[in-house]
Amino acid sequence: MILTAPSVLSADFTNLGKDLKILKETGADWIHYDVMDGRFVPNISFGLSILKQIRKATDMFIDAHLMIVEPQDYAKRFCEAGADMVTVHVEAASPENVRKALDDIKSCGKKCGIVIKPKTPAEAVLYYIKDIDMILIMTVEPGFGGQSFMEDQMDKVKAVRKMINELNPECYLEVDGGINAETAKTVKAAGANVLVAGSYYFGAPDRAGAIKALKEE
Ligand code: DX5
Ligand code: ZN
Repeated sequence: MILTAPSVLSADFTNLGKDLKILKETGADWIHYDVMDGRFVPNISFGLSILKQIRKATDMFIDAHLMIVEPQDYAKRFCEAGADMVTVHVEAASPENVRKALDDIKSCGKKCGIVIKPKTPAEAVLYYIKDIDMILIMTVEPGFGGQSFMEDQMDKVKAVRKMINELNPECYLEVDGGINAETAKTVKAAGANVLVAGSYYFGAPDRAGAIKALKEE
């Protein structure tokens, strides 16, 4: 089954309650919550307090994507603020500290995952793959919504799909960046089963139709 995770980075924050309600009504599966610190990526988004407010406003599954340095110092706090899944970039810290972040997330009873940037090879997931619930492959350089999809990441998606099937078949394979009705077909064919969509979903005149198009198998 294909799951959709609209990124609230593209939501209308002056009417966030309304957008959260529409997310549920239009059949989205998860909420993707992009945390940017201005250090790991050249942009700053939102953090713990907005997450707490979203948690109070919805019962949907929240997938928090941490684009921050020192994730080991914050992963637990994002769990406590209401995330159901927290993912950390392998490029953001040493392997020991990435592991500490993953262990902290698990000790909170939440799902954990790793994220890899476009220039990071598929093999980087091998050290973690057996101990995680999701691998997120970026299909843009992280930092901004509305960028163009990088088709050259598809060999990596296929390679990671193969690793998942062999080593941890329950692990989700998520893609993030430039996903729309067209690129969704490409990522699904390559083996992704969780699709993040920011500008495509929130810009769609028919959001239920957008979810349907993303989920089509
Ligand atoms: C980018 C973020 C994405 C972003 C996707 O760094 O991780 O989740 O919101 O936006 P679109 O779907 O517009 O590329
Ligand atoms: Zn993201």
